[in-house]
Amino acid sequence: MYFLSLFFTFAFAYDNGSPLASLSPRGWNSWSTDDIAGLLDLCFEGEIHEVADSMVSSGMVAAGFNLILLDDCWSSTNRSASGQLQPDPLRFPSGIPALVSFLDSRGLSLGLYTCAGSKTCKYDRPGSYGHYDTDAGTMSKWGVRWIKADNCSPPPGSARDYFSSFSRAVNSTGVPIVFHSCEWGLDDVAAWGPNVTQVYRVRPDHLPFWWFNLPGAYPPGGQGTGDIIEGMADPAVLAGQGPYSWPDPDVLHTGLFQTEAESQTEFSFWSLWGAPLLLATDPRNMSDFKRSVVLNEEALDVQRGDAIFGRGARRVRGDNSTGVQVWVKTLGEGGPAVIILYNSGDWLPVDISIDWEELGGGWPTNVSLNGRDLWMHADIFTAQKSGAKATGIPVHGVRMWKLSVSV
Ligand code: GLA
Repeated sequence: MYFLSLFFTFAFAYDNGSPLASLSPRGWNSWSTDDIAGLLDLCFEGEIHEVADSMVSSGMVAAGFNLILLDDCWSSTNRSASGQLQPDPLRFPSGIPALVSFLDSRGLSLGLYTCAGSKTCKYDRPGSYGHYDTDAGTMSKWGVRWIKADNCSPPPGSARDYFSSFSRAVNSTGVPIVFHSCEWGLDDVAAWGPNVTQVYRVRPDHLPFWWFNLPGAYPPGGQGTGDIIEGMADPAVLAGQGPYSWPDPDVLHTGLFQTEAESQTEFSFWSLWGAPLLLATDPRNMSDFKRSVVLNEEALDVQRGDAIFGRGARRVRGDNSTGVQVWVKTLGEGGPAVIILYNSGDWLPVDISIDWEELGGGWPTNVSLNGRDLWMHADIFTAQKSGAKATGIPVHGVRMWKLSVSV
């Protein structure tokens, strides 16, 4: 029995060769574009062409944002006469293969949304339950390279079982397609996700507010950016992270209902966690500020890391009740470390001091460190002994520093 379960685990340990998931993914998701919970769908062929072109001209594609993921918006409300998913004829009159080749010529891959259950979460579009092989086959033939499978109208049985069945169907197409489960952190997904999917949602839907945690909400855990940061502090959530195994805290709302400090905080945390960077806001006509966030190369380097593929972020001090938090990712023993000093309080700027001993992760104590601020793009101290202090961190703001041993 043990042998069998070991075999099962490795059989789906889930390097399927997809170039979109060997490193932590980057892309754009059509869900919730400059709105709340997808009230307006940015999901018509012409719009998607414009988004693709803007991702090229803004430098996003060159920076590795090479996926366009169409969410719960692209499909017709009915299957075709032969039982296949089909695009909404008004939204995508030229069909999906034409869109794939348009994107391909711009260095972008196409992802499509469906649902592991019988209906999608919005407008009851057809889900894939009972059609996993058919739908995986249809999408692979269209040239789709990422499938997001949601969890509304769920099938009977355990989530692990039905997501595994869908994943096997995707795998049996023989095409390296990323399978992205969207199960909101329920049913212990962080434990089995790494063996079943390449990308697995670990938090509820991210809304463009800092706090949004209604009592009794389902799924539980809170939907504001601050709530998601709190949820990601559970070490179990990031435990299975690595190539082809990316816990997904959900999309980024860069610049929407956020102060500039909040936009930087959001991007800092997603990068520190090595999380997929799936932009929800509109990449067309990005403001200079938004571009400076999304294309911050120093933060992007933290997302993918150099030595360890971006793994190992953890909170070492504080929580939402204390207002002052310290998060660390050490990139190898004695290698550089990245820290986030975070003011999760709602009212006043704070000063945060850090003692180098808090870094942990095999770092030597009694060392002098150099510090670089990854938002100022400046070296801010050299050979600093024992610790350092950041002053005036704004409400919901951070300092994100890269530390290296001073020699
Ligand atoms: C769920 C998912 C979201 C989005 C919507 C679409 O809420 O969690 O990410 O895909 O469905 O209806």
